Amino acid sequence: MDYNILMEKAIEASKNSYSPYSKFPVGACVLTTNNKIYTGCNFENSSFGLTICAERNAIGSAIADGERKIKAIAIYSPNTDNCYPCGACRQVLHEFRPENGIDIVLKQGNELICHTIDELLPEGFNL
Ligand code: THU
Repeated sequence: MDYNILMEKAIEASKNSYSPYSKFPVGACVLTTNNKIYTGCNFENSSFGLTICAERNAIGSAIADGERKIKAIAIYSPNTDNCYPCGACRQVLHEFRPENGIDIVLKQGNELICHTIDELLPEGFNL
């Protein structure tokens, strides 16, 4: 799968963001090991703590469709280069990590940069 396609879908998803409080739209696109694709955007609430990040929204759609292993995720915000996932989303990604890990794809100008979940969350929590 071409990661440019994942990023295009993350960009499209960011346009649906509901972020009237932070004015910080985010879109995410997840690729599963079954080569299925799911998108999500952040959505906020006047009770701020109820906000859901774009990554967890996309992951939730994948889980609801029966997927369990995430191969890659593209994350995008029009507000910043390199929109890194927050700590909570890193741990949620860790939960659905296949043996080969997860590629985290970010946009830096016109380029894509790629990290692994193990780089961004070494020693993630496991029960
Ligand atoms: N946000 C995400 O969607 N993903 C992240 O990994 C970091 C933060 C959202 C949550 C909130 O709606 C806005 O960005 C500002 O924190």
